[in-house]
Amino acid sequence: KRVAILISGGGSNMVSLVQDMQSGDHPCEPVLVVSNVPDAGGLAKAEGMGVATAVVDHKPFGKDRAAFEAELTRVLEEAKPDIICCAGFMRILTEGFTGRWGGMMLNIHPSLLPKYKGLHTHQRAIEAGDAEHGCSVHEVTAELDGGPILGQAIVPVLDGDTSDVLAARVLPMEHKLYPAVLRNYAAGDRSMIVLR
Ligand code: GRF
Repeated sequence: KRVAILISGGGSNMVSLVQDMQSGDHPCEPVLVVSNVPDAGGLAKAEGMGVATAVVDHKPFGKDRAAFEAELTRVLEEAKPDIICCAGFMRILTEGFTGRWGGMMLNIHPSLLPKYKGLHTHQRAIEAGDAEHGCSVHEVTAELDGGPILGQAIVPVLDGDTSDVLAARVLPMEHKLYPAVLRNYAAGDRSMIVLR
C-alpha cells in the first residue's frame, strides 16, 4: 500500500511511521511527505530517510481553503496514495477534502478522544484533573477529530505535571500507536488497539 504523510512541523510521528514501513515485512511503503509549512523540520528528516517530499504552503491561498486543498489534492494525486496519514498536520480540512480522501485517511490526536478535540489538549486534561490522558488514532471524516477511533494509548497524569511534561509522556506512545494502527489499517483490520 502506498502511504502519503501530511506534516506541519518536526514530523516525529512521520519518522516513526516511515521507520516502521522501512523495517521490512510491512504492507506499506512511504511514497510522499507533504508539508504545508515550507521549512518544517520533518521535510529534511523525510529526505534523509529517502522519502520524496513536497510543500504546499497554505499562506499564499489566504482564506481560500478550497484553493489550498485543491493544490494539496493535485500534489497527492500525483503520488497515487492508497492511504494518507496526517501526522502533526495542523490545518483544518474542509468537507471538500475529506469528501475526496475520507475513507483512506488517518490522523493522530493527542487526547483520549472523544475528549479534548482541538488544541491545547494536555493543558485541558491537567486542568480537568484527569487521572489519565493519551493519544488517539482515528479515521478522518468531515468532523474535526471526530472519525471512528482505531487506537488509543493511555498514560497517567501525575501530580505537578505541566503540559510540556505530559506532552513528553504522550509523544513516545504516539510513536508506538500510530505504526501499529497503520499496519492493521493497511491489512483491512479495524479492531481497536489500546496501549498503556
Ligand atoms: C504531536 O503532539 C502530535 O500529537 C500532534 O502534533 C504534535 C507534533 O507531532 N498531532 P510531530 O512531532 O510533528 O509528529
